[in-house]
Amino acid sequence: MNTGIDQQVLLRTKLHRPRVIADLIDRPSLKARLDTGWDRSLILVAAPAGFGKSTLLSVWLEACDCPYAWLSLDEDDSDLAVFLAYFLGAVRTIFPNALTATQALLSGVSLPPVTVIARGLLNELDDLERDFVLVLDDYHIISEQAVGELLAALLQHPPGRMHLVIATRKDPSLPSDSFVHVLKSLRSAARISASRSTRSRDSWSRHWERP
Ligand SMILES: Nc1ncnc2c1ncn2[C@@H]1O[C@H](COP(=O)(O)OP(=O)(O)OP(=O)(O)O)[C@@H](O)[C@H]1O
Ligand SMILES: [Mg+2]
Repeated sequence: MNTGIDQQVLLRTKLHRPRVIADLIDRPSLKARLDTGWDRSLILVAAPAGFGKSTLLSVWLEACDCPYAWLSLDEDDSDLAVFLAYFLGAVRTIFPNALTATQALLSGVSLPPVTVIARGLLNELDDLERDFVLVLDDYHIISEQAVGELLAALLQHPPGRMHLVIATRKDPSLPSDSFVHVLKSLRSAARISASRSTRSRDSWSRHWERP
């Protein structure tokens, strides 16, 4: 038996940036704040359901001439092997031949410890030659501690080329043994939040342009 995850069985629609509707209300200050996060290893976009997190990021990426990958998470991705397969699949939409050693781990009988996966993955991410953005959307859905541990380990020694963006309805719940390091990353991250009280155009403009 192996971890049972194959690149070919990935649901590719989870790797697509959501389409944006025409006639969106512009949110220039929030986009500018995303821009300032470019130099950070993590941008955290945390706001309740329906506040426009995914839309904001999709619009931001559309205007950005940088390579980007998108992963819309769901319940199944709480499983570390599934999460890892999709994480690799997302990055490989930009770098199709990259991360092969980590990919090979998914063919093993079982996954090695998270620290081992993270070390290999960090080395492979460090080999990438271009900067890129990776958006993990709906991160609040992830309930498995191992996934948080993997991200914490990546953020502890962040790969220079990868600009990670996490969109979530609540702050990521972080494993206690890596909490300090991640908290540091989060503190230094550009933190984007939006608020709105109604869906009327005026109130959206008023509220959404507040930092
Ligand atoms: N700038 C905008 N102008 C007009 N409509 C918007 C804008 N941003 C978002 N919307 C609309 O608001 C709704 C919610 O947006 P979105 O899905 O981006 O929210 P979300 O914060 O990602 O929600 P969730 O937590 O459920 O994923 C969508 O119908 C979207 O089209
Ligand atoms: Mg969303």
